[in-house]
Amino acid sequence: MDIGMRHMHVTAVLLLLVFMLFKTVLLLTNKVDYLDRVRTKTKVVDIILGLTAVLTGFYLLSLKSEFEIYLWVKILLLMAAVPLGIVGLKRHKKPLAILSVLLIVYVYGVGETQSYKFKRNPVVTGNADQAGAEIYQKLCVECHGEDGKLGVFKAPDLTSSLMNQAEMKQRILQGKGAMRGYKNELSTEQLDAVINHINTLQ
Ligand code: HEC
Repeated sequence: MDIGMRHMHVTAVLLLLVFMLFKTVLLLTNKVDYLDRVRTKTKVVDIILGLTAVLTGFYLLSLKSEFEIYLWVKILLLMAAVPLGIVGLKRHKKPLAILSVLLIVYVYGVGETQSYKFKRNPVVTGNADQAGAEIYQKLCVECHGEDGKLGVFKAPDLTSSLMNQAEMKQRILQGKGAMRGYKNELSTEQLDAVINHINTLQ
């Protein structure tokens, strides 16, 4: 369900980006008659995509137990970018349309890197790597295996997990099915370290 929501969110943002990009190119190349025709035809689609992106964004936000600034940055920018783009394309204002596309590209990048500064996994250091591997060895190997693919108790292949960092955190802390939760055993640093270790398997 949550993974489905995330896919829906990413797909909506990507489609929105492709549509906006196409129409912005039409505007920049002064094909305004064609642009206006495309615009009237895709108006409803734009609104549906924009709403889907923002609403699924809020839903994903509601799943997070901790405050994650990148998610807020994303949603607020998206809420600004969509109307900006619609107005820019309608009034044939090139700078507005370009700004809107840039904002959506940025939002997509923020989502992919899970950081508003585009910095992935800031906690990685030599020591954390070591600690992550040790914790994984001690607590996780029996089911997930050295390479993450062992699959005892039908454990999913960690090398092809679709979860993002935050979702993994949640799953490891709470546990699910045959896997117990580790919230009383792992500190925040240890949790980050073990997730980094999983990322190195991928
Ligand atoms: C007793 C076996 C067992 C142990 C030990 C175990 N896991 Fe799991 N793990 C599972 C099973 C089974 C699932 C699938 C749970 C489900 O979705 O029903 C799972 C799911 C996961 C997932 C979600 C993957 C996905 O894409 O759905 C992650 C991440 C994960 N485990 C990490 C860890 C880490 C990190 C440890 C060690 C701290 C650990 N596991 C220890 C059995 C285990």
